[in-house]
Amino acid sequence: MKTTIRISEQNKIGEVDKRVFGSFVEHLGRAVYGGIYETGHASADDQGFRQDVMELIRELQVPIVRYPGGNFVSGYNWEDGIGDKSRRPRKMELAWQSVETNQVGIDEFQEWAKRCNTEVMLAVNLGTRGPEAARNLVEYCNLETDTYYANLRRENGFEKPFGVKLWCLGNEMDGPWQICSKTAYEYGRVACETAKMMKWTDPSIEVVACGSSNVNMPTYMEWERTVLRECYEHVDYLSLHNYYGNPDNDTATYLASSFEMDHFIKQVAGICDEIKEEKQSDKSIHLSFDEWNVWFHSNEQDKKIEKWQVAPPLLEDIYTLEDAVVVGGLLITLLNNCDRVKIACLAQLVNVIAPIMTETGGDCWAQTIFYPFLYASRNGRGTALKAACNCGTYDAGNMKSVPYVDVSAILSEDKKQLTLFLLNRSLQDNAELDLQLEGFEGYTLTQHIAMEGEDLKAVNTASDPHRVKPVNKELSDQVVLSPHSWNMLTFTAE
Ligand code: AHR
Repeated sequence: MKTTIRISEQNKIGEVDKRVFGSFVEHLGRAVYGGIYETGHASADDQGFRQDVMELIRELQVPIVRYPGGNFVSGYNWEDGIGDKSRRPRKMELAWQSVETNQVGIDEFQEWAKRCNTEVMLAVNLGTRGPEAARNLVEYCNLETDTYYANLRRENGFEKPFGVKLWCLGNEMDGPWQICSKTAYEYGRVACETAKMMKWTDPSIEVVACGSSNVNMPTYMEWERTVLRECYEHVDYLSLHNYYGNPDNDTATYLASSFEMDHFIKQVAGICDEIKEEKQSDKSIHLSFDEWNVWFHSNEQDKKIEKWQVAPPLLEDIYTLEDAVVVGGLLITLLNNCDRVKIACLAQLVNVIAPIMTETGGDCWAQTIFYPFLYASRNGRGTALKAACNCGTYDAGNMKSVPYVDVSAILSEDKKQLTLFLLNRSLQDNAELDLQLEGFEGYTLTQHIAMEGEDLKAVNTASDPHRVKPVNKELSDQVVLSPHSWNMLTFTAE
């Protein structure tokens, strides 16, 4: 399959905000307990954080991690997770029907984040709680005043504020599964009042309002419009969430997930602009795709998990090569929409639909999806350029004219490296590239890595952790993308 790709240095999409390489840790399953935190584990540090896990997280160079939920946050009292650990309450956690010990809370998490070279994006509870608890948490985290909550932080041993800049106003408030879900109008009002109080407490913060929980919600789009009408001037971002999967083993359609994601982003951005116009506002609302990933493998096994356990093995998807190719494609779409998507969180980071898995008391390893994220995070920062791709198309499910090849092009800040991320969706055909790179005379191809292979269902496990990994392709003048593969090409200035 002949594929022409034209890129010009002059033709830019925008700067990539490094926060698109964010991730997410929720108090869910073994994400926290047995994941990032395990006192008594051979690799635990002085605070009980697993350093083997930390090492893999540092490799990914995740700049921001959303916390503590997810659905969990809608029933959470943040005060349960601070101060003397021996006095923290064990609670019935309704979102995931588990027992929460509160041995990790905001104090520990911000310390963990520092050790992982990352920042915290905090979600506040707009389910069982509201504006007051949210603004108290902002004071606890960010203020140097001689006032109750800032002093409480000092009493707990933290003289300096944590400096949390980015806040989510609740989580998936349109979902009937959410603790105390709301109508769009109810949520829009409370998001508005909460944002006001939080910003009066710390005017330097940015806040994200909840968009729809996914693209198939019955209120999708009307939710976005109503919420934005209520809180437009007080919020900075609108969230998008979506998970992809291949439950029917229809790989051609599954590989088109990133095409669907692109449509979703453009639709929500359009609604933001529509309300901007309606309000005659000078401000644009940008997007926070703060939950995205593949999630479907664990659905059946989760139904069998006993309730009210501490850290049960929930949402433990074991990812295939095929999933890694899809995740790589989703990253291409996020980069190509960097003019609107400023934040994105791979949901999640450890054990729960995650690139990193652990055995409680044992080893940790990188899942297949770890690798496209790793390469994109390390090489995908800079200026995104428009890439015109001329190739064949196919129809998949209700998606028409899905191109076989997708590409994103990133020029590094120092302009010494041009990186192309490429997806070949064809199940049978190689894609032979005709690369027309305008303004890149003197750049040479120095690396071609690929996630590819015959066995699309191959996985990494504790006993065989390196089965699926990117391969280094031999460099030649004719670049070829194998069928159903995700690739990275690096061109370096001489
Ligand atoms: O990431 C798992 C769950 O998916 C989150 O708790 C929720 O926000 C979403 O439905």
